[in-house]
Amino acid sequence: MFKYSALLALVALMPAIANAQSPLYGQCGGIGWSGATTCVSGSSCQKLNDYYSQCLPGAAAPTSAPTSAPPTSPTVTPTAPGSSVPLPSTTPTAGNPFVGYEAFLSPYYQDEVTAAVSAISDPTLKAKAAKVASVPNFTWFDVIAKVPTLGDYLSAASAKQASTGTKQLVQIVVYDLPDRDCAALASNGEFSIANNGLNNYKGYIDQIVAQVKKFPDVRIVAVIEPDSLANLVTNLNVQKCSGAQTAYKQGVTYAMQQLNAVGVYMYLDAGHAGWLGWPANLTPAAQLFAQLYKDAGSPQFVRGLATNVANFNALRASSPDPITQGNQNYDEIHYIEALAPALSSQGFPASFIVDQGRSGVQNIRQQWGDWCNVKGAGFGMRPTTNTGSSLIDAVVWVKPGGECDGTTNTSSPRYDAHCGLSDAAPNAPEAGTWFQSYFETLVSAANPAF
Ligand code: GLC
Repeated sequence: MFKYSALLALVALMPAIANAQSPLYGQCGGIGWSGATTCVSGSSCQKLNDYYSQCLPGAAAPTSAPTSAPPTSPTVTPTAPGSSVPLPSTTPTAGNPFVGYEAFLSPYYQDEVTAAVSAISDPTLKAKAAKVASVPNFTWFDVIAKVPTLGDYLSAASAKQASTGTKQLVQIVVYDLPDRDCAALASNGEFSIANNGLNNYKGYIDQIVAQVKKFPDVRIVAVIEPDSLANLVTNLNVQKCSGAQTAYKQGVTYAMQQLNAVGVYMYLDAGHAGWLGWPANLTPAAQLFAQLYKDAGSPQFVRGLATNVANFNALRASSPDPITQGNQNYDEIHYIEALAPALSSQGFPASFIVDQGRSGVQNIRQQWGDWCNVKGAGFGMRPTTNTGSSLIDAVVWVKPGGECDGTTNTSSPRYDAHCGLSDAAPNAPEAGTWFQSYFETLVSAANPAF
C-alpha cells in the first residue's frame, strides 16, 4: 500500500505531455509507454496496472484508479466511439443498480424452459412450469463460445427498452477462469493454467467487453466467478486450488478492471453461509475480498458480493436446519450481517445480492456441504429489491433452475462424488445441461407455489 501511494505521488508530479491525445479506450501510460499521456475530451487517463493506463470515459473517479494525468478538459457527456449514446460508465448509481430497472428475461433460459414445458404432459404441472419463463435469472457465460450471444441479448434488451420506455437490466455470470472449480470436478472448465489459461481468460473478458461496448444504453449486472475466491479462502489445501491462486486473483482483478471500464455493475461471488459464513472463515474471507477490491483500485462499479449462488440456503430460515448446527450464521441474512461489517472495516463497503432460485424448500440435505442437484429442492422466493435489509440490493435467481449441477455418470471425467450422494438426484446429465426431471420437481415443490 505504501509503494502504491508513493507511485501515485510521483505520477501526480509528472508534467502532462500535451502534444497528442489518446483516443477513448486507448493506452495513455504505463511502464515503457512513450505515446500520448492525455486523453481525448470526455475521457481521462486511469491507471489499470503499472504497465497499462487507459483512456476511460469521464473524469477520473475520486476514489477509484489513480490517474497518470489530470483531466485536461471539463467533463462532457462521453459517448461510445462512433455513437451518440452516452456511456453508462460515467454515471454509476450511488445506490442499488437494480432500482428503476426491469430485469431482462434471459432468452437462453426462456428457450430452455419453453422446450421443457413442451415435454410435460400433466396439464397442471405444465401450466406452472410455463410461469417459470417469466421469472428473470442470470445467463451464464461458462464457455468463450457463448460470448457472441451476449451481443444478441444486449441488442434485444436495447430494442425492448426503446420500444417500451422501461429501462432494461441484463444479468450475466462471468464464469470461465482457468482451472475452474478447483476443489471439485463437476464444473471443471475449458481453460487450463498450464496451457495459457490466464491469457485465454483475459481474451474471454475482452470479448465480453467488446459486446458490452456496443450497447452502452443497457445496464448490466454481473456475478463474478462463482466459487473461485471462496475456494481460495478455504481450499488452499487442495493442490489445484493453491496452484490456481495467482491466476484466480489476476483473472478476477482483470475482470473487475475491464468490466468497470465499460460500466458493468459487479458482485463478486462469496460462497454462502455454510461455506464462508463459519466464524473462522469470515475474517479471512473479508480480508481477501477487500484486498482484491482495493488492489484493483476500488472500482466504482464493483458494488459488492453475491451469495448462495447455485446453493440451497434460505435468506431467512424460519428455524435453523439441523445440518447448520455449530454455526450461528445458519442462513444468508446472518452470514451477510456478519460479513458486511468485516468488509467495511477493511475498506470494502459491500452491498449484496442473494440467489434464492432453488431455496424454496429447506431441511432437505444430509450435510450442509451437499451442493449437487439436492433432492426435494423447489424454486424459491421471487427476485425482488424488496429485501428487508439495507445490505441487500436484490434477491435474485442466479442458477438457472433445471440446469444440472453435475453428472451422476461415474465414468465421466467431471464426475464428482457429491453428485452420487443419496440426497442428490439420480440420473443427472453433465453440469450446465438440462435436467428435465429436476426442473419438474423444482416446479412442483416451488415455494411460493406457481
Ligand atoms: C454449472 C455448470 C455451468 C453452468 C452453470 C449454470 O456451474 O458447470 O456450465 O453454466 O452451472 O447452470
